[in-house]
Amino acid sequence: MIVEPSGQACGATIRGIDLSGPLDDALVAAIRAEWLRHRVLAFADQAMNDDALERFTLAMGGFGFDPFFEPIPGRKNIAAILREPDEKAPIFAESWHSDWSFLPRPPAGTCLMAIEVPPTGGDTLFADQVAAFAALPEQRKAYLRSLTAIHSAALAYAPDGTYGEKDQALGRSMAIRPDDSAREHFAHPLVNLHPETGEEALFSTMGYIVGIEGMVLLWDNRAVLHKATGGYEGHRRELHRTTVAAPG
Ligand SMILES: [Fe+2]
Repeated sequence: MIVEPSGQACGATIRGIDLSGPLDDALVAAIRAEWLRHRVLAFADQAMNDDALERFTLAMGGFGFDPFFEPIPGRKNIAAILREPDEKAPIFAESWHSDWSFLPRPPAGTCLMAIEVPPTGGDTLFADQVAAFAALPEQRKAYLRSLTAIHSAALAYAPDGTYGEKDQALGRSMAIRPDDSAREHFAHPLVNLHPETGEEALFSTMGYIVGIEGMVLLWDNRAVLHKATGGYEGHRRELHRTTVAAPG
């Protein structure tokens, strides 16, 4: 097995192995070790099919639970990330996220097997959250460790969410199934201790975090100006506001 680190914060390319057939324990252990070390692995020169993808996923820890996606025909655990050439719906998942972070037990990893790729574009980007956290000043780290984030799929997968009924009307080809269950909330620490490496990682995801537990904003109207901003078109925003009387 040849491992070529990307030279960036995370990522490596793996060559010299064949994932198309049965996988022996030693190979799986070696892949797992590189996965934990580099966080993102690209397996070059593979000739895999859906059976091989399922075998690989089972070897890496088994299938996670995938809400809001209709699996492809004949498979319970494979979803198609799909965009047709003439599709007009917005690009799917074009904001930083960790898959299904709103679940009580979010998945450990995600596998993507390319079936057809465009000649240009279509990259998946990664941002190392262990490195991001490590780069923060100690005081900031201590503050962030004290926070609990509230995750929900509502902004994305509720009927009025980004991938809800309006989006379905745009003719998206992906089999997304919006549902009211997306409105459920689940809290996770904003800084996660990685269960296998013991590293601290930011567990923040723009699409799914809807709040920080116990966070209240207070400003001094005598000392600052403030203004609102948009940027959440199609989503509901409600904050309860009071004013503090002037002394005397
Ligand atoms: Fe994703």
